[in-house]
Amino acid sequence: MPVGYTPSDPAVRADPYRQLATLRQHDPVHWSPALKSWILTRYDDVARALSSAEEMSPDRLTPFYASLPEPGRSTLAEAMRYLSLWIVFRDPPGHTRVRALVAKAFLPGTINGWRPAIEDLTERLLNDLSAAGPNETDLVGALTMQLPARVIMHVMNVPERYLHDIKAWSDDIMSFLFSARGIPDKYERARRGAVAMSALFRGLIEERRRMPGDDLLSLLIAARDADDRLTEDELVATSMLLLFAGHETTTNLLSNATLMLLRNPEARARFVAEPDTAGTAIEEFLRYDGPSNSMSRVVRVTHEIGGRQLRQGDRVFAMINAANRDPAYFQNPESLDLGRQPNRHLTFGQGAHFCIGAQLARLEARIALPRLFERFPDLALGNAPPVWHDSLIARGLSCLPVIPGHARR
Ligand code: HEM
Repeated sequence: MPVGYTPSDPAVRADPYRQLATLRQHDPVHWSPALKSWILTRYDDVARALSSAEEMSPDRLTPFYASLPEPGRSTLAEAMRYLSLWIVFRDPPGHTRVRALVAKAFLPGTINGWRPAIEDLTERLLNDLSAAGPNETDLVGALTMQLPARVIMHVMNVPERYLHDIKAWSDDIMSFLFSARGIPDKYERARRGAVAMSALFRGLIEERRRMPGDDLLSLLIAARDADDRLTEDELVATSMLLLFAGHETTTNLLSNATLMLLRNPEARARFVAEPDTAGTAIEEFLRYDGPSNSMSRVVRVTHEIGGRQLRQGDRVFAMINAANRDPAYFQNPESLDLGRQPNRHLTFGQGAHFCIGAQLARLEARIALPRLFERFPDLALGNAPPVWHDSLIARGLSCLPVIPGHARR
């Protein structure tokens, strides 16, 4: 049976799961000539690709950059200076060292301490949504993009006036990293985004060195392991990564989860009736249609998976959202079950690169989603259809039209 993966097809973008299930069943280690990549769709293979540092490397930037002809190479040089230091792309020992330092600033107690600020920001945005009236509006612009961006800016103590700039710079970097097709000037945009964002953080780091506070940026500056500290470039790069990773993915979680609830009245009724079990429900939102469509890797040593030979240097897409519906691991994987337990989804990754912000993302969803449905009991889908990102990596909406209806306090 001929099977393929065509993520740019608008029908597949709207519902990738049928195609992913066919792949998982008939060709789980699929070579895509169009993407020049392996597409892994079984849970075991995805988990192995994400966690095996011996077989796979997360560093797809260095080989890509090394083979890039001019003028692209020079255009990207300044962006590469920072992106190559992002731990998400690094191998040991660099990854191990920097991750340990970053983890010192990202302790569970610190994250829980951000709860009142997240509640406050949520309330402010819901008040604005209420003030805008009951007519059709885009929930991404009004809430799901705003909240995670404002939260990460708040905890890093980045002034609110940079919100729109930061969103634009992040989008510029994202269009390069998430391989969006059809953006001809994406290298130039990535350069622009990286230069502007790094300049902002250099200034803020200098300021925080003079006047440290209890914000995340000050904690990163102070983080030390014996005599080791983050270098200046590592500090700038890590701040950029946290800002970037801290909002794009969480935005997609909030948007996708809202859409799931609006499309599933039974699930919605349960979510509203049982606020104490929202934590379990959020795990199911992460699994069922979560923000991580895939993560990419480069084959480090030639090895075999499922009878296919993956050669050194080949590119691999580990399809997390396909693994999350693998019947070998989940009962009735195609149904949205808000009480599902256990729920060992791979949405935050697996192994050494497991998401450092998982607890923060969960906390934001735990606060914002119940409150949204509580304050807007008549919230409904708008007349215009939701618009999905054209991306192989991120699964999320660029626009979610909703009719908020009348608000409660
Ligand atoms: C629902 C929201 C989120 C999702 C689905 C998500 C997903 C992921 C995944 C799948 C990885 C592993 C990448 C890989 O193996 O290549 C990862 C890593 C990472 N995430 Fe998240 N993330 C989310 C939110 C956040 C937040 C809020 C932050 C920070 C404030 C964050 C910071 C990071 C960092 C720094 C890494 C790199 C860790 C490393 O390489 O050691 N993420 N995330």
